Amino acid sequence: MTMKIRGIEKADYDYIVSVLDRWWGGPAGQRAHPYFFYELGDFALVAEDEGKVVGFLLGFITPDKATGYVHLVGIDPDHRRRRVGHRLYERFEARCRDEGVSRLKAIAAVGNDASAHFHQAIGFSVEEVAHYAGPRRDRLVFTKSLG
Ligand SMILES: CC(C)(COP(=O)(O)OP(=O)(O)OC[C@H]1O[C@@H](n2cnc3c(N)ncnc32)[C@H](O)[C@@H]1OP(=O)(O)O)[C@@H](O)C(=O)NCCC(=O)NCCS
Repeated sequence: MTMKIRGIEKADYDYIVSVLDRWWGGPAGQRAHPYFFYELGDFALVAEDEGKVVGFLLGFITPDKATGYVHLVGIDPDHRRRRVGHRLYERFEARCRDEGVSRLKAIAAVGNDASAHFHQAIGFSVEEVAHYAGPRRDRLVFTKSLG
């Protein structure tokens, strides 16, 4: 396989913001705050296949180094079900283990079945948490122990 996982660069950011709504299947620009591209160091990753960015993962570790949090992951619809997402998570997890992180966490909207299936397939537990993001804003919360 020619795909490689590497750190994000400015040109990747420019590309991702131009395709994000399409990859996401709806408006997603607000999730792509520049902070997530500029300030996360090597916890912001892209997957590149034959010179083309086909996926990204934007994560960070919490200040107490307990949790590796994945803010946003997106895969080009033409490259889904080819383990691109899985490989991005593998790299993120390895980086988190280097820092002594004990669990990974991500969230998704209730009803995002693809995300729920994906996270479960790569070892996460899923729980629907009422009011997680404020009143009546329930969320799926995914966690994986690195113990
Ligand atoms: C969810 C998403 C990141 C998955 O990425 P992906 O690269 O296609 O996933 P992978 O190929 O690594 O899948 C690994 C396993 O997860 C499961 N899986 C992935 N997508 C799935 C889907 N749509 N339905 C059911 N199971 C799925 C499968 O078990 C899969 O293994 P298999 O293909 O051998 O059966 C991708 O569909 C996406 O970008 N969706 C839109 C954005 C989004 O919802 N992001 C998550 C919220 S933060």
